[in-house]
Amino acid sequence: MTPEDLEILLAPGGQELLAGLRGHDPADDLAVATRLRRTYEAPLVAAALTQTRLRQRGAAKFGADAERMYFTPHGLEQSTRASVADHRARRFAAYGPGGVADLCCGVGGDAIALLRAGLAVTAVDRDPLTCAVVRANADALGLGEQLEVVCADVTDIGAGDRDGVFVDPARRTARGRVFDPEAYSPPLSWALAAAAKGAPGAVKVAPGIPHEAVPEGAEAEWISDGGDVKEAVLWFDARAGGVRRATLLPSGATLLGRGLPDPPVRPVGRYLYEPDGAVIRAHLVAEAAEELDGGLVDPTIAYVTADELHPTPYATPYEITDVLPFNLKRLKALLRTREVGTLTVKKRGSAVDPEDLRRRIRPQGPHSATVFLTRVAGAPTMLLGQPAR
Ligand SMILES: C[S@@+](CC[C@H](N)C(=O)[O-])C[C@H]1O[C@@H](n2cnc3c(N)ncnc32)[C@H](O)[C@@H]1O
Repeated sequence: MTPEDLEILLAPGGQELLAGLRGHDPADDLAVATRLRRTYEAPLVAAALTQTRLRQRGAAKFGADAERMYFTPHGLEQSTRASVADHRARRFAAYGPGGVADLCCGVGGDAIALLRAGLAVTAVDRDPLTCAVVRANADALGLGEQLEVVCADVTDIGAGDRDGVFVDPARRTARGRVFDPEAYSPPLSWALAAAAKGAPGAVKVAPGIPHEAVPEGAEAEWISDGGDVKEAVLWFDARAGGVRRATLLPSGATLLGRGLPDPPVRPVGRYLYEPDGAVIRAHLVAEAAEELDGGLVDPTIAYVTADELHPTPYATPYEITDVLPFNLKRLKALLRTREVGTLTVKKRGSAVDPEDLRRRIRPQGPHSATVFLTRVAGAPTMLLGQPAR
């Protein structure tokens, strides 16, 4: 999208066209474009069809709001999904009404959530089109009143007089993903220094951030949504104080680190618990295992086992029926006897390719099962079971 595209889309003709394209099937693009070009200018039709496709993709992150929002392909890809942004915005709002500087605002995934949480937002981005998009998005959602957009390099202007500071550095360039935090834009060290001045301050980072890179005194929070780890955020907050936290959306269950030692290793019990990815990334398997009165199947593997079924948001329980040394023939024979046709393969600490395994086993039958390929006390092992009820 170019700034001109956005301008014509925001004009009355563009609005009418976009409204008419809601729910449009992209497979019909060609026929629809031909028909619409009889009424509308070709550049407007092209811009509206592209925007409609982006809105349809955007629904995965923004739900029904996406139908009214504007996206650039990069802006959509880099934006924070609404569930995660809302969670973070609630924490900013809990701090008080001081407003937030959203440094590197992109198309506004975070800005929208902050505005919805009732906070005034100064949104800064150096890309003029992106600035126009964040403004259009806030206006389209009826949230524009409390938004100030500043088109500038954040390293030139900083957070101004806002109490809260949020920084989401670009971790991609035109050439792809950037792995060196000092090659982020702005560099991570700048983002951390800016956020450290906020009350509170926060920096969104990749979930793979090494624990050693978390500044002393900051809280590191790993966030998953629907079981997938989405991001980590480093909080500078008088109340944070060096804590590690795993937050699971949509429930919002949040597990705090207490610096527990590694859980004990014990024989496989009746249940195997697969900790949520956020719990694993936050190194809080010991905290989850303590709640479950469980131990590890192996000192190097994040599977927790216990004799009893405890309800927990932090791990998915499976009831284990068989514990066998890893052996493809035996697994095949066992699944045949049990008439298992639907096999879910999970693995941790095993080099086996699940797809290859399924191909070689060719499961057949009316029943389903889950096999865990893992190590138990160092030995390659297969655990057969099913989700516990
Ligand atoms: C990861 S995206 C932000 C996504 C946003 N939080 C959202 O949810 O939509 C990063 C943004 O930072 C902007 N950016 C990168 N370096 C910048 C700088 N030095 N000053 C201002 N903006 C910058 C990019 O233009 C991009 O829009």
